[in-house]
Amino acid sequence: METSRLIFRPLSQKDDVWLPAVLADGEVMRFSMGVLERDGIARWLLDRIAEYERDGFGVWAVAEKASGEMIGYCGLLRYLDVNGAAEVEVAYRLMRHAWGKGYATEAVMETRDYAFRHLKLKRLIAIIDPANLASIRVAEKAGFSFESTVMLDGYDYPDRVYVASNPVLAG
Ligand SMILES: CC(C)(COP(=O)(O)OP(=O)(O)OC[C@H]1O[C@@H](n2cnc3c(N)ncnc32)[C@H](O)[C@@H]1OP(=O)(O)O)[C@@H](O)C(=O)NCCC(=O)NCCS
Repeated sequence: METSRLIFRPLSQKDDVWLPAVLADGEVMRFSMGVLERDGIARWLLDRIAEYERDGFGVWAVAEKASGEMIGYCGLLRYLDVNGAAEVEVAYRLMRHAWGKGYATEAVMETRDYAFRHLKLKRLIAIIDPANLASIRVAEKAGFSFESTVMLDGYDYPDRVYVASNPVLAG
C-alpha cells in the first residue's frame, strides 16, 4: 500500500533494527505505556506479526518514499472490549524527526480508507490520551470525532475515544 509520500509494508523480525527509534524514545512514548527495552520491543514485534494471521489485518511499517527510510508504523489493532464493545483501532507512532510534515495524517487517512473499503468495517476508533493534542489533531483531520472516554488497563485516568464511521455502511 502507498500514498503520495509514504510506503506501507507488513512488519517482520528485521524491523527490530529501527523500532527502538519509536518504542524506546521517551518523547514518542510520552502518552503511552512508557519506553520499551530490547525484550519489550521483541515481544511487541512478535505480537504484531501474530496479529496478521489472527485478525487478517494489523500494523504496517511505514517508510518515507523520498528517502526510503523507515519513519514508524501505522495500522489496525483489534480491541476485544472498549466500553463493552469489540472495536478496531487505528494505531500510529512516528520517529521524532518525521513529525510535523503531515505524515501521520496521511498514514491514518490511508489506513482508514483501507479499513472501510477493503475490510468493510462499519467504524474505526482512535484511543487517545487527552493531553496528546498532536494526536487528537491528527484524528480530527482524518475525520474522527470525540465519542466517549475509556479507562484502559494499567491507566489511572481515562483516555478519549474518537470515532470515524464508514460513509458507505453507516446508517
Ligand atoms: C502524534 C503524531 C503521530 C503526529 O505525527 P505528525 O506526522 O507530526 O502529524 P501531522 O503532521 O499529520 O499532524 C499533526 C498536527 O498536530 C498539530 N500539533 C502538533 N503538536 C501540537 C500540540 N502540542 N498542540 C496542538 N496541536 C499540535 C500540528 O500543528 C498538526 O496540525 P495542523 O496540520 O493543523 O497544523 C506524532 O507526534 C507521534 O508519533 N507522537 C508519538 C506517538 C503518539 O502519540 N501516537 C499517537 C498515539 S494515540
